[in-house]
Amino acid sequence: MIWHPFTPQLGAGDPLEIQRGDREYLYDVAGNEYIDAIASWWTVIHGHNHPQIVAAITEQLKKLDHAMLGGFTHEPALRLAERLLALTQGDFAKVFYSDNGSTAVEVMLKLAAQYWHNSGQKQKTRFIRFDAAYHGDTIGSMSVGGDSVFNRVFSALLFDAKSFAYKAEALHELDVYLAGNHETVAGIILEPLIAAAGGMVFQSEEVLRGIAALARKHGVLLLLDEVFTGMGRTGQMFAYQKAGIKPDLVALAKGLTGGVLPLAATLVTKEIHAAFVSEDPLKTFYHGHTMTGNPPGCAAALASLAIFDAEDTLARVRRLEINMRACWQNLAQRYSDKLADIRCLGAVSAADLVVRGEKAGYTFSKVRELKAQALAEGVILRPLGNVIYVTPPYNISDAALEKVFSAIAKILENYAI
Ligand SMILES: Cc1ncc(COP(=O)(O)O)c(C=O)c1O
Repeated sequence: MIWHPFTPQLGAGDPLEIQRGDREYLYDVAGNEYIDAIASWWTVIHGHNHPQIVAAITEQLKKLDHAMLGGFTHEPALRLAERLLALTQGDFAKVFYSDNGSTAVEVMLKLAAQYWHNSGQKQKTRFIRFDAAYHGDTIGSMSVGGDSVFNRVFSALLFDAKSFAYKAEALHELDVYLAGNHETVAGIILEPLIAAAGGMVFQSEEVLRGIAALARKHGVLLLLDEVFTGMGRTGQMFAYQKAGIKPDLVALAKGLTGGVLPLAATLVTKEIHAAFVSEDPLKTFYHGHTMTGNPPGCAAALASLAIFDAEDTLARVRRLEINMRACWQNLAQRYSDKLADIRCLGAVSAADLVVRGEKAGYTFSKVRELKAQALAEGVILRPLGNVIYVTPPYNISDAALEKVFSAIAKILENYAI
């Protein structure tokens, strides 16, 4: 009946039917317990069914289920916008709501293009992207993603975007390219510090600062996709704050509602917004999604932000980084021939499985086997090809984290290179 996402329609096996969730655990219909070591596609940052988020949604539903944001507003949307902007300490002035990461990215791209159009620089329509990038599955977000299984089939439908390597060595090339092409470039889009779906590829703060400086130098906008890195995942509320840079647009989704309801937001600077303040109706941003600013979604996001304060979540993330690093280092000592490139930042940790006899990457042939082995150990993992990563709820217990790494140890024990 259901066509499952990212799932081959032959030979994928039956999906596991989940019945309930509690903290870092999911339970199937037979009552089996699984540790959600990837926080359900990087969303449930405070664990499943956090009582404060559940209560906030329930209370909100007693008052207002939904009201469209075209011509109307409501308290949860207003309060959330206020909270988000306060967290950016004045870097941003407006919040444009949508429903998922891909749409938050589309909004960034379209706002950037129309900003230049409204400012009388209509030729600035092109974007610069990075080769490890994944920004979503809509046509625009695929166009600015790196070449991958996610967008290759659709290459004829995508707009052209100049791609650079996601590493320090590309900075000079980017500088040279922008010197010659800045007049047609609207902006640079990237996932700051970690290209997630591209294989948990890490980038230093210094490179991020370098890219931001080039964007400024050449007069192009900096669009940061913080759908994954935002909401505390790197140990600071937003990854850009870690690098001390000032982007022009930021996309948020996933953990925004604590992963409980679909809600996304694009943060917009005062300068960009100013280009849309006009008597000319054609300078309006004619873009919107039906469920934009959904009240229960906003209430969930407000509750999630309150949890950050009440549970000192960012400190937890920093402790989690230390714990996960120790766990990986322990594995590296035992399986040094099988593991490479261990990397940890905040609530994200990953390592590459050493591969021989086939190409490393997303189509690595043993992925299904790895997932099944983890599940048999009561742990949900979803390797990106030969990249095994752990991105648990930020408040995962020490005992559960230990169990996750015991499962990875078992996988490594059985893994024949
Ligand atoms: C960095 C990044 N951007 C955008 C997206 C797309 O988000 P969504 O799946 O909510 O459309 C993802 C999803 O994994 C992501 O990791």
